Amino acid sequence: MKILLTGGAGYIGSITTKLLLEKGHEVTVLDNLEYGHKEAVTCPLVINDLTDKENLFNSFKGQSFEAVIHFAAYALAGESMQNPYKYFRANIQGGLNLLELMKELKIPSIIFSSTCALYGTPDKLPVTENSPKHPESVYGESKLMFETILNWYSKLYDINYINLRYFNACGAALDASLGENHNPETHIIPLALKAAKSNAEFTIFGNDYPTPDGTCIRDYIHVQDLAIAHLQALEKLKGDVKNDSFNLGTGNGYSNKQIVDTIKTVTGIDLKIKYGPRRPGDPPKIYADNIKAKTILGFNPQYSDLETIIKTAWEWQKKLSSI
Ligand SMILES: NC(=O)c1ccc[n+]([C@@H]2O[C@H](COP(=O)([O-])OP(=O)(O)OC[C@H]3O[C@@H](n4cnc5c(N)ncnc54)[C@H](O)[C@@H]3O)[C@@H](O)[C@H]2O)c1
Repeated sequence: MKILLTGGAGYIGSITTKLLLEKGHEVTVLDNLEYGHKEAVTCPLVINDLTDKENLFNSFKGQSFEAVIHFAAYALAGESMQNPYKYFRANIQGGLNLLELMKELKIPSIIFSSTCALYGTPDKLPVTENSPKHPESVYGESKLMFETILNWYSKLYDINYINLRYFNACGAALDASLGENHNPETHIIPLALKAAKSNAEFTIFGNDYPTPDGTCIRDYIHVQDLAIAHLQALEKLKGDVKNDSFNLGTGNGYSNKQIVDTIKTVTGIDLKIKYGPRRPGDPPKIYADNIKAKTILGFNPQYSDLETIIKTAWEWQKKLSSI
């Protein structure tokens, strides 16, 4: 299939592109390279910002694609509260320009990288696709708004979508060729691995939560399982699954303490830990109900056990220091 993939120089986008290419798809990546890495792209790359509509239309004039996979977005919840303009502009205006391009080029399908952040703090666990949506950041709100926009475009034009609501993406390509290289990094696994590597102390925020070991629990999904889910969604969009949303998580959570303990085992490094105060707004537990994705998309996470997650992320971290 001929695919236009936005954000393909970033973490999840580059690993999904790798899998698509391995499966024989033809991929063109669009990325502004603000957070992405040119060397992570091994297919045609168009360097462009989605908010620049004129440039976007000129770059793709006369081209044809069968589907869009839309990863490109700003994704730092904290930063989004300091700079809402940046987030609404890129994630909403940029997304709208992409939809207009799809209309212009008659691209019928889009898979959208959505997030569990649109649920906010859940009232009930596990979180289902129908759980109340009350985002607690501009970032989460921008994703929810774009889901709404997609729904209207699907009603008004020949565009069908699948929203994939990722929980916490983690791990690296199984051959350690690609992985998470965010700057700034905000995710616990790369941060703790970097601390292990540099013999630094690592702070866990809060150990007095109502969880078995007192630390927060989140649903971690290996990036390779996410990549596979995009292939499944592409197939389904050609059939009768259209205009729907799916949670991509394992349905189980791991605690911060379990993560750090596994890092110690996998790396053999005695990572030093300090417990800090709770971070405001951090709920004790979040994990997905993934039954819908399993039943309808055939989603079946294979790499999301904590050991595989940490092993692949560690191999990537070691490689990063040598680049
Ligand atoms: N990483 C996670 O745990 C997670 C969880 C839920 C959802 N998501 C979503 O998945 C997607 C990918 O996440 P990631 O962790 O790979 O992020 P990332 O920052 O590594 O990749 C995003 C890419 O998009 C590009 N980009 C951003 N804005 C752009 C614009 N206006 N025009 C062109 N390119 C632009 C960046 O340069 C970057 O290469 C994002 O939409 C994010 O919101 C990620």
